[in-house]
Amino acid sequence: MEKKDILILAIESSCDETAAAVVKNGREVLSNIISSQIDIHTLYGGVVPEIASRKHVERINQVIKEALSEAKVSLEEIDAIGVTYGPGLVGALLVGVSTAKALAFGAEKPLVGVHHIEGHISANYICHNELEPPFICLVVSGGHTHLVVVNDYGEYEVIGRTRDDAAGEAFDKVARAIGLGYPGGPKIDKLSKEGNMNAIEFPRASVAGAPLDFSFSGLKSAVLNYINSCKMKDIEYNKADVAASFQKAVVDVLVSHAINACNERKINKLAIAGGVAANTGIRNALVEECKRSNIQFFSPSNILCTDNAAMIGSAAYYEYIKGVRHGYDLNAVPGLKLGERL
Ligand code: KG4
Ligand code: ZN
Repeated sequence: MEKKDILILAIESSCDETAAAVVKNGREVLSNIISSQIDIHTLYGGVVPEIASRKHVERINQVIKEALSEAKVSLEEIDAIGVTYGPGLVGALLVGVSTAKALAFGAEKPLVGVHHIEGHISANYICHNELEPPFICLVVSGGHTHLVVVNDYGEYEVIGRTRDDAAGEAFDKVARAIGLGYPGGPKIDKLSKEGNMNAIEFPRASVAGAPLDFSFSGLKSAVLNYINSCKMKDIEYNKADVAASFQKAVVDVLVSHAINACNERKINKLAIAGGVAANTGIRNALVEECKRSNIQFFSPSNILCTDNAAMIGSAAYYEYIKGVRHGYDLNAVPGLKLGERL
């Protein structure tokens, strides 16, 4: 008997993108609709949680309709509804979770809650059909910096984490300090290309006793101190050099820890995930270092690095085929830990 295709309708609303997608068998994207709120949050220099929730409410139904129509499937043909239930902004998450529950109830479909970071990691399954666990994943987003061993589908072991700021947070804060605005990551990435990455020696922090952990707050302070001391001395600093030197400092630490993790665990497959994984400096350095160390490198396309629902559809599929189902009491969990099951 031929195996039936599994179609997941996935919903993502944990931060400032309202997104829905239809994914077939965990790897094939039939539609991936993202309604970004960046324009409105840019006015305030960062995400305003209350505005994010309201915009999700305004847009979510339309985004879901578009996802189904672009995929050319009806709600009846969907096998399960996947939804991000944490971590993220509680009000924003609630919009997706409530909508998913209502759809699951109304259409009598199973409901599968997904961890946002599991979604980011799963974006790699979409872009690399051949990728299968075990592998190491460097997760670098606006809220997280984790080194994870993906032992199997849905089985994660966190072996390194940030002690303070996430990598994306550091990018956003430094961008604000040099007047680039929000969101800072892509702007620093672009400006870096015009600067000299060796112009300023910023610190590469390590955490005593935890060689795979990260700390970015010292680096952020060093950049702010550099800018302030230039201002006090009335010296005009070169923004592109600051951006490039800062980015290099982040990249050096991320790359060396990721390669060390692969060597330590004797796993020769490394993936990258999360918004910061779109950074060209990180990608280029990892391609080079992985080649040197005989490690296979995997990265999602840019659109699948930043928040989207296709990645949630992929993660939901692997949970679904394992038999994971959530009830109508599924709630938003803003501080949900990776690997935690509720
Ligand atoms: O994964 P994501 O979309 O949202 C979270 O789950 O946090 O990541 C957003 C983060 C922001 O901090 C943004 O500045 C950063 O990813 N980012 C980048 C780049 N594109 C997005 N950071 C560095 N370089 C980029 N090209
Ligand atoms: Zn994210």
